[in-house]
Amino acid sequence: MDHFQYKDNQLFAEQVSLDEIAECVGTPCYVYSRATLERHWNAFNDAFEDYPHRICYAVKANSNLAILNLFTRLGSGFDIVSGGELRRVIKAGGDPKKTIFSGVGKQEWEIREALEHDIDCFNIESEGELQRISRIAQSLDKIASISVRINPDVDAKTHPYISTGLRDNKFGLTPERAIKIYEQASTDRHIRVRGVACHIGSQLTELTPYKDALDRILDFVDLLENRGIPIDHIDFGGGLGVRYHSEKPPTPSQYWATLKERLESRGHNLPVTIEPGRAIVGNAGILLTTINYIKEGEVSNFCVVDAGMNDLIRPALYQAYQEIVEVNQSDRIVKKSYDVVGPVCESADFLGKQRELAVEEGGRLAVRTSGAYAAVMSSNYNARPRPAEVMVDGDQFHVVKERETLESLYEGEHFIP
Ligand code: LLP
Repeated sequence: MDHFQYKDNQLFAEQVSLDEIAECVGTPCYVYSRATLERHWNAFNDAFEDYPHRICYAVKANSNLAILNLFTRLGSGFDIVSGGELRRVIKAGGDPKKTIFSGVGKQEWEIREALEHDIDCFNIESEGELQRISRIAQSLDKIASISVRINPDVDAKTHPYISTGLRDNKFGLTPERAIKIYEQASTDRHIRVRGVACHIGSQLTELTPYKDALDRILDFVDLLENRGIPIDHIDFGGGLGVRYHSEKPPTPSQYWATLKERLESRGHNLPVTIEPGRAIVGNAGILLTTINYIKEGEVSNFCVVDAGMNDLIRPALYQAYQEIVEVNQSDRIVKKSYDVVGPVCESADFLGKQRELAVEEGGRLAVRTSGAYAAVMSSNYNARPRPAEVMVDGDQFHVVKERETLESLYEGEHFIP
């Protein structure tokens, strides 16, 4: 459930009307709901009850400092994939000691900085990475904690671009290769083996791939035990889907009940870490946009709005469906089918196709489920400043990121002599 609801045909975020935000801040802008963010984080945390666990919010889904700070206040840990994300966590007051570092391409400086801040664990993805981490840990006279990300070779049944647990993906290692890394790591004075990690993909709406992946991870945990390599947690990644359209993803408690049942039936009670991103922030945000023109076309009608693919690339990149609704519902306007498009000079610049909308020029639309992978994937294409970001908190709203200025777009650019 989210806190974007109509009152008297006007769309509100909690108790603030989106029209009011648009008038004060301008459009396009992203609007987040604090109550929804907290509700979703707590839904994961509560699902585990007294089972030892840790929620490490996947920063990549939305790394706005205000959002990271809210989760810090709830006691969250963080899953990062870059030195930039680590800096954001620290800036937001987050605890590096509750932070895990994922990703296939960790650079020297990123590893060094993570070690200097004593992050909790590196989830490593290659033999070369283990060597690099060991060498840097030695030079800093530190001990690096590691898990290896296992690629369980299961089909997450999601879009191929966001599926990560198949053998032909760049992510993780086969159990056969991983075991060699663990054996090497367990003899290295600068490495402490901590866990086993896995993440099979994003926007999962079924539990079966999770069950299959967990079975393979547990086989691997048994193998480690047999080789005398103890671990202290399983990191099961993120990936739980949200409702963009008509999907019916499992709730956090259904998800955890399934995993717990599996763990128990196999006689395991290891602490579990999860790295949810989208399921926490996705439906806690919308993209607010104003209709610039209504253009009747030969084949389709176009609703040309002031937000474009540079502000929300998911429809263009993954053919993703995101619900688009009128900020003001009116019986006076006739409903028609529109392609909702932006001002960017690309035919891929659409937010939605063939949407039944009652709209007129100057009206406003909200693109739902824009809390995850929206602002973070935005760009300045066509010299468009990135939008403002706003957080609603009850009957108040706060600008949590200012709109970029046109001048800022060429800061750091220079003529040659
Ligand atoms: N952990 C790891 C190691 C990941 O790679 C990801 C996401 C997550 C956790 C968080 O997954 P989530 O709970 O948010 O599904 N841009 C794409 C999604 C890319 C996800 C990449 N990895 C989209 O807009 O659909």
